[in-house]
Amino acid sequence: MKIAIIGTGYVGLVTGTCLADFGLSVTCVDQDETKISLLNSGGVPIYEPNLAPLIEKNVSAGRLSFTTDLEKAVKQSKIIFIAVGTPSNDDGSANLKQIEKVAQQIAASMNEYKVIVNKSTVPIGTATKIKEIISKSQNVIARSEASLPQRKQGKQSQHSSVIPASSHVIPAKAGIHPSFPVEFDVVSNPEFLREGSAVYDFTHPDKIVIGTTSDKALKIMQEIYRPLYLIDTPFVITNPETAELIKYACNSFLATKITFINEIANLCDKVGADVHQIAKAMGLDGRISPKFLHPGPGYGGSCFPKDTEALYHFSSTCGYEFKLLKGVISANKRQRELMVEKVKYHLGDLKGKTIAILGLAFKQNTDDIRKSPSIDIIKLLLKEGARIRCFDPLAMDNTKKILPDLTYCQDEYETAQESDALVIVTEWNQFRNLDLSKIKKLLKTPIILDLRNLYEPATLKSLGFIYEGVGRR
Ligand SMILES: NC(=O)c1ccc[n+]([C@@H]2O[C@H](COP(=O)([O-])OP(=O)(O)OC[C@H]3O[C@@H](n4cnc5c(N)ncnc54)[C@H](O)[C@@H]3O)[C@@H](O)[C@H]2O)c1
Repeated sequence: MKIAIIGTGYVGLVTGTCLADFGLSVTCVDQDETKISLLNSGGVPIYEPNLAPLIEKNVSAGRLSFTTDLEKAVKQSKIIFIAVGTPSNDDGSANLKQIEKVAQQIAASMNEYKVIVNKSTVPIGTATKIKEIISKSQNVIARSEASLPQRKQGKQSQHSSVIPASSHVIPAKAGIHPSFPVEFDVVSNPEFLREGSAVYDFTHPDKIVIGTTSDKALKIMQEIYRPLYLIDTPFVITNPETAELIKYACNSFLATKITFINEIANLCDKVGADVHQIAKAMGLDGRISPKFLHPGPGYGGSCFPKDTEALYHFSSTCGYEFKLLKGVISANKRQRELMVEKVKYHLGDLKGKTIAILGLAFKQNTDDIRKSPSIDIIKLLLKEGARIRCFDPLAMDNTKKILPDLTYCQDEYETAQESDALVIVTEWNQFRNLDLSKIKKLLKTPIILDLRNLYEPATLKSLGFIYEGVGRR
């Protein structure tokens, strides 16, 4: 079974590689020529644990390839996954331009029955929209083809005016599209992998959600995911609208859970309670579970911020104000500001002060800095007049592209040198075992603000540090 993946980013590359490892023949497509030539020369554009060797294995086995030629990849594949970006518009709604463009490109390249599977996170109704775009584009092509003999005779087709000048489906080449309309199905198959453990998550998911009304497409999807079915992965088979909303519901709930424990932590800061003990006790309640009860600088990354905004916006367009989500979004923004307040509490006016920042990625085990709490906090500190020294094991190159004027250091210790305070923002494992006596000697003042609660307050205080976590001192 041949598969094309359109969009070779975090989701597309991991999906394509893992499906190839299931034994399927996969072509990953991207419009970014630099990305594709890097992949074709053996490089990997992103960091994900275990991804590079899996790509190498499947490329060597002849099951995985990379191209910018979308038309060819679509023509030779029965199943087309869409995994392009759905960033936020200024008003918080999901920007579907990349999805719409890909739908038109697919329509222009269809030669026989296809299953078009949307993996991008999208508002409810997008599967229907993709279907409409493809049907409409096919009709345009069909009419354009029908008009070809007339054009050859120098006559203007009566339908030619319906083809938009910018459309990707204009070039109606005789003989390429054998019969229109070509049959196709659109399936919603949202992705739940987490950056930093994406390969593991894709191959050991807690669920597979398939949204379709077509039995034919469902059978094909079940065949693709057969290796996961064999390890007893639960399948949720539903309609496309429900599948689309499941993804937003999951991400919004997780963002809410993180925000809830952050709010409790902020209250702990005021009253001297210990959020770790509270989270532990809450987590022991089977109805709550201990996961996602780690206080910190607020959620970030390429998904939670944009997906909460998109669901809030989408609800509003349906005439429903999702009040809880509005509170979550605003509390998460305030959480960054409260972290900066902690720095100011200890250092006073930040003008001319040097802050050592450990961690730039939005979480550990990734080089992704999209909506990273660390980047937001650095920007707020810069606004206050602070100077920033920083270190991250993987995310420095990405950060240099947007904040070139920070002082980038070799390691944790160079970062601490001559700084007024050390702020730990990302929970990298290597930050959990710092040589604290060395750090103390390097810092101008022995202040550690531990925004991920990696250390025990009592231990740090006994070593002579002024220490503060989030919800525990
Ligand atoms: N990153 C995650 O952890 C994650 C997890 C689950 C779901 N998602 C969702 O998956 C989608 C993709 O996310 P991502 O993080 O992989 O995005 P990304 O930005 O890393 O990758 C998207 C890729 O699509 C390519 N692209 C865009 N238009 C194209 C076109 N017309 N033809 C070919 N290539 C095209 C871009 O060049 C880019 O490489 C989003 O909707 C996101 O919300 C992401």
